Amino acid sequence: MQLIDGKIISEQIKAEIAKEVEEIVKKGGKKPHLAAILVGNDGASETYVAHKVKDCAQVGFTSTLLRFDNSISEEELINEIKKVNANPDIDGLIVQLPVPKHISDNKIIEAIDPAKDVDGFHPINVGRMVIGLPAYVSATPAGIIELLRRYKVPTAGKNCVVIGRSNIVGKPISNLLIQKADVGDATVTICHSRTENLKEVCSKADIIIAALGRAEFVTADMVKEGAVVIDVGITRVESQTTKSGFKLIGDVKFDEVAPKCSFITPVPGGVGPMTRVALLQNTLLASKKVIYK
Ligand code: GUN
Repeated sequence: MQLIDGKIISEQIKAEIAKEVEEIVKKGGKKPHLAAILVGNDGASETYVAHKVKDCAQVGFTSTLLRFDNSISEEELINEIKKVNANPDIDGLIVQLPVPKHISDNKIIEAIDPAKDVDGFHPINVGRMVIGLPAYVSATPAGIIELLRRYKVPTAGKNCVVIGRSNIVGKPISNLLIQKADVGDATVTICHSRTENLKEVCSKADIIIAALGRAEFVTADMVKEGAVVIDVGITRVESQTTKSGFKLIGDVKFDEVAPKCSFITPVPGGVGPMTRVALLQNTLLASKKVIYK
């Protein structure tokens, strides 16, 4: 069994990005610039955005955090997005989700200029990705593909089962894995809460991507000997053994599943750090105008 170490790979990629930024600046270019919009003060969103700002600093990017009160109207928020769209100094924009209930997620996502949509959530980017055109790919699926690539995990012709059909993980990772690509060419089955005989379906998989958001859902009896298991789950549970008082639990019962696997990602330290670094990769692409010229 080989552990897929997202922490080490993400640090390698951050070093590669930092080196590239240094070279851009040396040649008189501008540092990549990410803007993040945060509405209200939801605890988890505060943490996620703080990580994004810290990650930017670590690789030499500029970041701008734009904070708005919970009471901001949808129209006002869309106006703020339009200002960022029109600002040539800003390369990438993310609006941290969820936004307050009186604001539509979809309208906010659609207000972002697709060329600055480094979260890859805009329907134009999703559509372009599905038909194999250059696009910003959302961070978690992009991070998973990068892990499979760097660990040389074979995917061509493999039977891959994705558990979960979310717009930001299940659907895009399924689409990426069926693309004609070096990490792709898989035969993909997407499972969800209405899937019948889930255990039987999973036990035939060469690769399982667990992205349903239920702690320790995938057990040893669902996993074939020699399978590759990618765990996207991050359920926060109280813990007396950590300083923060919390710990993260994946969607996979790691201790019993790992001995059966050829490769497995741990939680924490697997997909999570790769999700963070994928946003930096997209922001670098945005600053270099690679996707949209
Ligand atoms: N909320 C949870 N994950 C994400 C993410 O990747 N991007 C944004 N914008 N909001 C999120």
